[in-house]
Amino acid sequence: MTHTTQFTNTEHVTHTEPDRSVFFLGGDLPVRRVGYGTMRLADGPGEPSGGEAHIWTAPADRAAAIRVLRTAVELGLNLIDTADAYALGAGEELVADALHPYREDLVIATKVGVVRPSPTEWVPLGHPAYLRQQAELSLRRLRTDRIDLLQLHRLDPEFPVAEQMGALKQLQEEGKVRHIGLSEVTVEELAEAEETAPVASVQNLYNLATRGHDDVVDHAAGRGIAFLPFFPLAMGAHAGPGSPLAQVAGEVGATPSQTALAWLLHRSPTVLPIPGTTSAAHLAENAAALEVALTDEQFDRIAAAA
Ligand SMILES: NC(=O)c1ccc[n+]([C@@H]2O[C@H](COP(=O)([O-])OP(=O)(O)OC[C@H]3O[C@@H](n4cnc5c(N)ncnc54)[C@H](OP(=O)(O)O)[C@@H]3O)[C@@H](O)[C@H]2O)c1
Repeated sequence: MTHTTQFTNTEHVTHTEPDRSVFFLGGDLPVRRVGYGTMRLADGPGEPSGGEAHIWTAPADRAAAIRVLRTAVELGLNLIDTADAYALGAGEELVADALHPYREDLVIATKVGVVRPSPTEWVPLGHPAYLRQQAELSLRRLRTDRIDLLQLHRLDPEFPVAEQMGALKQLQEEGKVRHIGLSEVTVEELAEAEETAPVASVQNLYNLATRGHDDVVDHAAGRGIAFLPFFPLAMGAHAGPGSPLAQVAGEVGATPSQTALAWLLHRSPTVLPIPGTTSAAHLAENAAALEVALTDEQFDRIAAAA
């Protein structure tokens, strides 16, 4: 994870033909605009799935999960998203087991700021000392000395934004974190956070059927901030045969999942979807979404249908 590229998004766009498949995260980390979200690599057979999934234990078939992670990188996906809360740290350990030593162009994103007291609870905790301790644990589990992108999983209303961001900024100043990201924030919260430290990314719930964060997408685009939509495939609902994308998918010769991702990529140049999957075949399908181009008319028609 040693990066030497010194472009910014602006310079990149100004001096060369823009490559819609690459985004410079934080201005200096080139990443493919489809990443891989690792949250689904958890729990065993018989555990709840979809929106009810606990994400509480390591996957029963560890070898299969490791194969999926390696396949993602072999396919050229170089933004890998995890969190300390996924399977109580086992998600980060899995990433390290699969991918360490990290390829030079790999960007590992993780998150701190949510505690898991039981399989069904996700509780924000933004005590600055806790955030710093969790980042130290993430560094150990990921077996690295610097986290490329550390995201605050949730803002905790019990602590001032400046204190939570201050903890991440301290980690950045100590060289333990390269870029800071946020998750599930409003434009106002993002702007307040930016008063303490630069924000490289925002990870909010967003897909063609759930567009409550349209204003954040636009704000992020205006500031060159990456917008990582989570649940980009509506947890699989947009990938299946009953998908609202089926008609346009047929027109462009793509699958519904690829068309859903292409819709997100078309939505704004700073959007980077991070679809999750436990299947190498689905990974390959999703990675190829970068090749799918929609017309503005198709983009509007999909939005209207959803
Ligand atoms: N910041 C946050 O608070 C937050 C919250 C939730 C998630 N996230 C992040 O966002 C990532 C994405 O979310 P997600 O994985 O929950 O939802 P998602 O990407 O919308 O959908 C994943 C589901 O879609 C299926 N799928 C994926 N590709 C497919 C394809 N090509 N064809 C058919 N089915 C396909 C997967 O099943 P198969 O395994 O069968 O492919 C899986 O069940 C997570 O992994 C995590 O990194 C962040």
